[in-house]
Amino acid sequence: MTKEGTSDWPVRIPTPRLVIRPPGDADREAMIRLLTDPVTREYLGGSVDYASRQALELSPLGLTWGRWALAHPEDDTMIGSITLDYDRGELQLSYALLPEWTGQGYAAESCIALLTWARHALEDDHVIAISQTRNKRSVALLRKLGFTVRKGLEEFGTQQLLMERPLAEPLPAQAQSLQTEADPPPPTRR
Ligand SMILES: CC(C)(COP(=O)(O)OP(=O)(O)OC[C@H]1O[C@@H](n2cnc3c(N)ncnc32)[C@H](O)[C@@H]1OP(=O)(O)O)[C@@H](O)C(=O)NCCC(=O)NCCS
Repeated sequence: MTKEGTSDWPVRIPTPRLVIRPPGDADREAMIRLLTDPVTREYLGGSVDYASRQALELSPLGLTWGRWALAHPEDDTMIGSITLDYDRGELQLSYALLPEWTGQGYAAESCIALLTWARHALEDDHVIAISQTRNKRSVALLRKLGFTVRKGLEEFGTQQLLMERPLAEPLPAQAQSLQTEADPPPPTRR
Protein backbone atom coordinates (compact mmCIF):
# COMPACT_ATOMS: atom_id res chain seq x y z
CA MET A 1 0.00 0.00 0.00
CA THR A 2 1.42 3.40 -0.90
CA LYS A 3 1.14 6.41 1.36
CA GLU A 4 -1.32 8.44 -0.59
CA GLY A 5 -4.39 7.93 -2.72
CA THR A 6 -4.26 4.40 -4.10
CA SER A 7 -2.63 0.99 -3.71
CA ASP A 8 -2.08 0.76 -7.49
CA TRP A 9 1.32 2.35 -7.92
CA PRO A 10 3.22 3.04 -10.12
CA VAL A 11 0.57 3.89 -12.70
CA ARG A 12 0.95 4.47 -16.47
CA ILE A 13 -1.79 6.40 -18.21
CA PRO A 14 -1.93 6.69 -22.00
CA THR A 15 -3.23 9.91 -23.58
CA PRO A 16 -3.97 10.36 -27.31
CA ARG A 17 -0.40 11.55 -28.06
CA LEU A 18 1.58 10.98 -24.84
CA VAL A 19 2.13 8.58 -21.99
CA ILE A 20 1.94 9.67 -18.34
CA ARG A 21 4.54 7.47 -16.65
CA PRO A 22 6.74 7.39 -13.57
CA PRO A 23 9.96 9.42 -13.92
CA GLY A 24 13.25 7.57 -14.34
CA ASP A 25 16.95 8.39 -14.27
CA ALA A 26 16.95 9.09 -18.02
CA ASP A 27 14.67 12.09 -17.28
CA ARG A 28 17.21 13.85 -15.08
CA GLU A 29 18.27 16.50 -17.62
CA ALA A 30 14.66 17.31 -18.47
CA MET A 31 13.73 17.44 -14.76
CA ILE A 32 16.58 19.84 -14.04
CA ARG A 33 15.49 22.03 -16.94
CA LEU A 34 11.92 22.09 -15.61
CA LEU A 35 13.24 23.38 -12.28
CA THR A 36 15.66 25.92 -13.71
CA ASP A 37 14.41 27.13 -17.11
CA PRO A 38 13.52 30.84 -16.81
CA VAL A 39 10.45 30.50 -19.06
CA THR A 40 9.05 27.47 -17.22
CA ARG A 41 9.81 29.06 -13.84
CA GLU A 42 8.47 32.54 -14.68
CA TYR A 43 5.37 32.12 -12.48
CA LEU A 44 6.83 29.49 -10.16
CA GLY A 45 9.14 31.70 -8.15
CA GLY A 46 12.12 31.48 -10.53
CA SER A 47 14.79 28.82 -10.72
CA VAL A 48 15.17 26.52 -7.69
CA ASP A 49 18.13 27.23 -5.42
CA TYR A 50 21.54 25.64 -5.87
CA ALA A 51 21.04 23.08 -3.07
CA SER A 52 17.78 21.77 -4.56
CA ARG A 53 19.41 21.48 -7.95
CA GLN A 54 22.39 19.62 -6.49
CA ALA A 55 20.03 17.24 -4.70
CA LEU A 56 18.26 16.50 -7.96
CA GLU A 57 21.55 15.92 -9.75
CA LEU A 58 22.83 13.49 -7.15
CA SER A 59 19.80 11.57 -5.90
CA PRO A 60 18.08 8.70 -7.71
CA LEU A 61 14.76 9.70 -9.23
CA GLY A 62 12.76 7.45 -6.92
CA LEU A 63 9.11 6.61 -7.21
CA THR A 64 6.95 9.05 -5.32
CA TRP A 65 3.20 8.65 -5.30
CA GLY A 66 1.52 11.14 -7.60
CA ARG A 67 4.62 12.27 -9.47
CA TRP A 68 4.71 11.52 -13.20
CA ALA A 69 6.66 12.46 -16.32
CA LEU A 70 4.89 13.29 -19.58
CA ALA A 71 6.60 11.55 -22.48
CA HIS A 72 6.24 10.80 -26.16
CA PRO A 73 5.48 7.09 -26.45
CA GLU A 74 7.58 6.66 -29.65
CA ASP A 75 10.97 7.53 -28.14
CA ASP A 76 10.09 8.06 -24.44
CA THR A 77 11.33 11.69 -24.54
CA MET A 78 10.14 13.54 -21.48
CA ILE A 79 8.36 16.83 -22.31
CA GLY A 80 7.03 17.84 -18.90
CA SER A 81 5.71 16.70 -15.55
CA ILE A 82 2.35 16.34 -13.86
CA THR A 83 1.69 15.82 -10.17
CA LEU A 84 -1.06 14.96 -7.74
CA ASP A 85 -0.40 15.49 -4.03
CA TYR A 86 -2.09 16.19 -0.72
CA ASP A 87 0.38 18.81 0.54
CA ARG A 88 -2.52 21.12 1.48
CA GLY A 89 -4.76 18.32 2.76
CA GLU A 90 -6.75 18.20 -0.49
CA LEU A 91 -6.02 16.50 -3.80
CA GLN A 92 -3.97 19.04 -5.76
CA LEU A 93 -2.99 19.05 -9.44
CA SER A 94 0.18 20.69 -10.79
CA TYR A 95 1.87 20.52 -14.18
CA ALA A 96 4.75 22.01 -16.19
CA LEU A 97 5.88 21.60 -19.78
CA LEU A 98 9.30 22.37 -21.17
CA PRO A 99 8.96 25.62 -23.16
CA GLU A 100 9.36 24.02 -26.58
CA TRP A 101 6.30 21.83 -25.92
CA THR A 102 3.77 24.49 -24.87
CA GLY A 103 1.01 25.82 -27.13
CA GLN A 104 0.26 22.40 -28.64
CA GLY A 105 -2.50 21.19 -26.34
CA TYR A 106 -0.30 18.72 -24.44
CA ALA A 107 -1.10 20.14 -21.01
CA ALA A 108 -4.87 19.95 -21.52
CA GLU A 109 -4.58 16.46 -22.98
CA SER A 110 -2.52 15.23 -20.01
CA CYS A 111 -4.73 16.84 -17.37
CA ILE A 112 -7.87 15.34 -18.92
CA ALA A 113 -6.32 11.86 -18.95
CA LEU A 114 -4.98 12.18 -15.40
CA LEU A 115 -8.21 13.57 -13.93
CA THR A 116 -10.19 10.83 -15.69
CA TRP A 117 -7.90 8.27 -14.03
CA ALA A 118 -8.23 10.06 -10.66
CA ARG A 119 -12.00 10.07 -10.92
CA HIS A 120 -12.02 6.27 -11.10
CA ALA A 121 -9.02 5.41 -8.92
CA LEU A 122 -9.28 7.91 -6.04
CA GLU A 123 -12.00 8.60 -3.51
CA ASP A 124 -11.60 12.38 -3.36
CA ASP A 125 -14.66 14.40 -4.29
CA HIS A 126 -12.79 17.40 -5.63
CA VAL A 127 -9.40 18.53 -6.88
CA ILE A 128 -7.69 21.88 -6.40
CA ALA A 129 -4.98 23.73 -8.34
CA ILE A 130 -3.09 26.89 -7.47
CA SER A 131 -1.80 29.30 -10.04
CA GLN A 132 -0.33 32.75 -9.94
CA THR A 133 -3.05 35.14 -11.11
CA ARG A 134 -0.63 36.49 -13.75
CA ASN A 135 -0.06 33.00 -15.18
CA LYS A 136 -2.64 33.44 -17.94
CA ARG A 137 -1.87 30.15 -19.72
CA SER A 138 -2.27 28.13 -16.56
CA VAL A 139 -5.48 29.91 -15.52
CA ALA A 140 -6.89 29.46 -19.05
CA LEU A 141 -6.03 25.76 -18.91
CA LEU A 142 -7.74 25.34 -15.54
CA ARG A 143 -10.87 27.13 -16.75
CA LYS A 144 -10.89 24.92 -19.87
CA LEU A 145 -10.80 21.91 -17.53
CA GLY A 146 -13.82 23.20 -15.59
CA PHE A 147 -12.03 24.66 -12.56
CA THR A 148 -13.56 27.71 -10.89
CA VAL A 149 -12.02 30.13 -8.41
CA ARG A 150 -12.57 29.25 -4.74
CA LYS A 151 -10.51 32.19 -3.46
CA GLY A 152 -7.55 34.42 -4.09
CA LEU A 153 -4.57 34.26 -1.77
CA GLU A 154 -1.19 35.87 -1.41
CA GLU A 155 1.72 33.45 -1.18
CA PHE A 156 5.42 33.81 -1.90
CA GLY A 157 4.84 37.56 -2.24
CA THR A 158 2.45 37.23 -5.18
CA GLN A 159 -1.28 36.94 -5.92
CA GLN A 160 -2.47 33.37 -6.46
CA LEU A 161 -5.79 31.81 -7.36
CA LEU A 162 -6.92 28.67 -5.58
CA MET A 163 -9.17 26.93 -8.10
CA GLU A 164 -11.25 23.77 -7.71
CA ARG A 165 -13.52 21.37 -9.56
CA PRO A 166 -15.56 18.35 -8.49
CA LEU A 167 -13.75 15.17 -9.54
CA ALA A 168 -16.94 13.50 -10.75
CA GLU A 169 -17.96 16.35 -13.07
CA PRO A 170 -17.50 15.48 -16.77
CA LEU A 171 -14.26 16.70 -18.35
CA PRO A 172 -13.96 18.14 -21.86
CA ALA A 173 -13.62 15.33 -24.40
CA GLN A 174 -10.05 14.72 -25.61
CA ALA A 175 -11.18 15.30 -29.21
CA GLN A 176 -12.54 18.70 -28.20
CA SER A 177 -9.32 19.69 -26.41
CA LEU A 178 -7.23 18.59 -29.39
CA GLN A 179 -9.22 20.55 -31.93
CA THR A 180 -7.46 23.50 -33.53
CA GLU A 181 -8.67 26.19 -35.86
CA ALA A 182 -6.89 24.41 -38.72
CA ASP A 183 -8.89 21.31 -37.87
CA PRO A 184 -12.53 22.47 -37.63
CA PRO A 185 -15.38 20.10 -36.83
CA PRO A 186 -16.90 18.36 -39.88
CA PRO A 187 -19.96 20.15 -41.31
CA THR A 188 -23.25 18.75 -40.06
CA ARG A 189 -25.67 17.39 -42.66
CA ARG A 190 -29.20 18.74 -42.68
C1 LIG B 1 0.73 26.24 -17.93
C2 LIG B 1 1.16 25.40 -19.13
C3 LIG B 1 1.24 23.94 -18.73
C4 LIG B 1 0.10 25.58 -20.22
O1 LIG B 1 0.55 24.90 -21.38
P1 LIG B 1 -0.21 25.09 -22.78
O2 LIG B 1 0.55 24.33 -23.77
O3 LIG B 1 -0.44 26.55 -23.03
O4 LIG B 1 -1.62 24.47 -22.47
P2 LIG B 1 -2.61 23.65 -23.37
O5 LIG B 1 -2.25 22.24 -23.41
O6 LIG B 1 -3.97 23.98 -22.84
O7 LIG B 1 -2.41 24.22 -24.83
C5 LIG B 1 -3.25 25.26 -25.26
C6 LIG B 1 -2.66 25.94 -26.45
O8 LIG B 1 -2.25 25.00 -27.42
C7 LIG B 1 -2.80 25.37 -28.69
N1 LIG B 1 -2.83 24.16 -29.53
C8 LIG B 1 -2.01 23.94 -30.60
N2 LIG B 1 -2.24 22.72 -31.11
C9 LIG B 1 -3.22 22.17 -30.37
C10 LIG B 1 -3.89 20.93 -30.43
N3 LIG B 1 -3.59 20.00 -31.35
N4 LIG B 1 -4.84 20.69 -29.52
C11 LIG B 1 -5.16 21.60 -28.56
N5 LIG B 1 -4.56 22.81 -28.47
C12 LIG B 1 -3.59 23.08 -29.35
C13 LIG B 1 -4.12 25.98 -28.31
O9 LIG B 1 -4.64 26.75 -29.36
C14 LIG B 1 -3.68 26.81 -27.12
O10 LIG B 1 -2.94 27.94 -27.52
P3 LIG B 1 -3.35 29.41 -27.05
O11 LIG B 1 -3.28 29.38 -25.55
O12 LIG B 1 -2.31 30.28 -27.66
O13 LIG B 1 -4.75 29.60 -27.56
C15 LIG B 1 2.53 25.85 -19.67
O14 LIG B 1 2.45 27.19 -20.04
C16 LIG B 1 3.67 25.66 -18.67
O15 LIG B 1 4.20 24.57 -18.51
N6 LIG B 1 4.06 26.75 -17.98
C17 LIG B 1 5.17 26.70 -17.04
C18 LIG B 1 4.86 25.94 -15.77
C19 LIG B 1 3.65 26.50 -15.08
O16 LIG B 1 3.44 27.70 -15.03
N7 LIG B 1 2.84 25.60 -14.52
C20 LIG B 1 1.62 25.96 -13.84
C21 LIG B 1 1.80 25.84 -12.39
S1 LIG B 1 0.30 26.33 -11.58
